[in-house]
Formats: sequence, C-alpha cells, structure tokens
Amino acid sequence: MIIEGLVTTVDTAGRLNVAPMGPIVHGDFQRLTLRPFQPSTTFNNLDTTRCGVFHVIDDVLLIARIISGTLTTPVDTEPARCVSGQILRDCCRWFEFTVDSVDASESRSRMESTVVFSDERRPFSGFNRARHAVLEAAILATRLHLLPATQVQQHLELLQPAVQKTAGPDEQQAWHLLIDYIQKRQEPVA
Ligand SMILES: Cc1cc2nc3c(=O)[nH]c(=O)nc-3n(C[C@H](O)[C@H](O)[C@H](O)COP(=O)(O)O)c2cc1C
Repeated sequence: MIIEGLVTTVDTAGRLNVAPMGPIVHGDFQRLTLRPFQPSTTFNNLDTTRCGVFHVIDDVLLIARIISGTLTTPVDTEPARCVSGQILRDCCRWFEFTVDSVDASESRSRMESTVVFSDERRPFSGFNRARHAVLEAAILATRLHLLPATQVQQHLELLQPAVQKTAGPDEQQAWHLLIDYIQKRQEPVA
C-alpha cells in the first residue's frame, strides 16, 4: 500500500529538505520502497546519505505550502534518533530508514529501505474529505508538466465540492494556495 506523507532528508552539509512523498509501505512499516523522481533533492540526498525520515501527517496545509513554495518559516525539527536526519516535531508517526539499494535506471527511481526506528507523537485526527481533496490537488500541482490543462481543471472541479462541504480553515487555505499555484503555472485553456 502507498501512504502519502513527508520525507525529510539532509545533504552532506546537513541542510534539511522536506518533500511530500508516497512510499510503498511493506508489512507494518518494517520496510519502505521510496520512488523519488530524478532530478529531485530527495533523490540526490537519499542517493548520497542513504538515510531519511518518513512522516505520517494529517496537516495538508503544510503539504500545500511546500508544494506552492509559500512556506515562510522553517519547519520545526529535532535530530533523528538512529539516522543522520531530522524529525518533524508536528507529525503523527515517524519512521527513520536506511536505504539498502538504489535502482536509478528509470527517471522514477526505486529505493528499497529498512525502517530502523519509529515512534508516535499524536493520534491521526481521522478521515476528512477536504484533506483528501487537497492531497489530490497537491499531487496534480506537481504534475502540471505531464497533464493537459483541461484534465487538471476537470479533476479540480470534481474535488472542489468535498472542500466546500467539509473543509476547516486550514484545508480552505491549503486549497486556495494550490489553486493559485496551479493557475499561475497553466496557460489559459483555449
Ligand atoms: C502527496 C504527494 C506524494 C508525492 N509522492 C512522490 C513520490 O513518491 N515520488 C516523487 O518523486 N515525487 C512525489 N511527489 C512530488 C514531490 O513532492 C515533488 O516533485 C517535490 O517537488 C520534490 O521535492 P524535492 O526536489 O525537494 O525532493 C509527491 C507529491 C505529493 C503532493
């Protein structure tokens, strides 16, 4: 099963990178298959340092801010326990992993990884349709170069009612950040 969350990595100078990623989760999170595209900072950092931290989160506003480039303050982190990396303080669960193998033969790489430490911070808040809609919009926002603009617009129109009906203030803000981001990057549809 694929679980969407945030991966933190560091480069050789210790600089933090936070990126939304959807690894394949094996068993009860004992192993992860990460599939970062090349080029990306996550790919470079994992290929070099061979470790990172995957976070299960319920804060879609953070995802929207990262994807739309509107994160104005650094995310709050603390050192990981067992790998050279950083843990997001605001997460539900985290999984520190080491990368066992890297297959970079295709643009979407495959990195087989072992979870070496995990812990919980707070309970997952529960399913919310607006959050899932924002997550889908965030994925669309990272694929604008692959998808026809009309298809993106149709998908957003299907997602919008869930936001209108079920969003709280954070989900509304996240949705608007992503819509603005997508509109600024798309050519007007003829
Ligand atoms: C929910 C979600 C899941 C994502 N999963 C992946 C993934 O598995 N692999 C990937 O390469 N990009 C994935 N992306 C897109 C990356 O987050 C995006 O390309 C990002 O810019 C990469 O950042 P980086 O260069 O800092 O690593 C995902 C985006 C979202 C919103």
